Amino acid sequence: MKGATNPQSFDQIVRNVFAPIYPVIAEQIVAKTSIKSGRCLDAGCGTGALGIALANITDMHITFFDQSDEMLNLSSQYATLNDLDNRSSFIQGDIHTIPLPDEDVHLVISRGSSPFWEDWHQAYREILRILKPGGMAYIGGGFGNAELREKIIATMNENNPNWRNSFKDRIKPEREALPGILDALAPSSYQIIDDESGFWAVFTK
Ligand SMILES: C[S@@+](CC[C@H](N)C(=O)[O-])C[C@H]1O[C@@H](n2cnc3c(N)ncnc32)[C@H](O)[C@@H]1O
Repeated sequence: MKGATNPQSFDQIVRNVFAPIYPVIAEQIVAKTSIKSGRCLDAGCGTGALGIALANITDMHITFFDQSDEMLNLSSQYATLNDLDNRSSFIQGDIHTIPLPDEDVHLVISRGSSPFWEDWHQAYREILRILKPGGMAYIGGGFGNAELREKIIATMNENNPNWRNSFKDRIKPEREALPGILDALAPSSYQIIDDESGFWAVFTK
């Protein structure tokens, strides 16, 4: 399966290396979208770190969504540890056929998952379908800011000297395809952020 990151080793990386990036990215999402209440889908949530960071600074209910049951189990454990049992739910499924009704959520967030999606046009169409009119999506990847990115790259390169390059290769095709896909899907507005915070598509239904 494409994107079948080993959940246990990914969990270790999130806890020991990536942890500081999620609160930074959550702040960036709120600054860009101004959405602080309602329902949010964390698509390809992995162990749930971004959704949890967003829940910690908003009143949002987070639906954690991933193709991997094991990742969802981990995200459920972390949601409980963060006192989010009343503001969290968990759905297993594939981004290409999201098992939610039309116009269901106010915000879709996703970090580090889209490079693994088989068909970006279909995935982004699904994201638009489940957004409420006026709802927003913040989809992409990054490490928050230049300082965190450089620190993380240095740490990851210690174990895998090719980590930075393999990572760049992974995101290149989507970068190239995304403007055409968003032009075709025609959300009411979109912006592509490509700066020290990472590469993100932000759009409004
Ligand atoms: C690199 S992890 C990122 C996890 C998390 N968002 C984070 O930033 O820590 C990518 C996640 O995307 C999920 N994923 C990949 N392809 C998917 C798909 N087609 N549908 C749903 N989830 C998918 C994987 O199972 C994995 O948990």
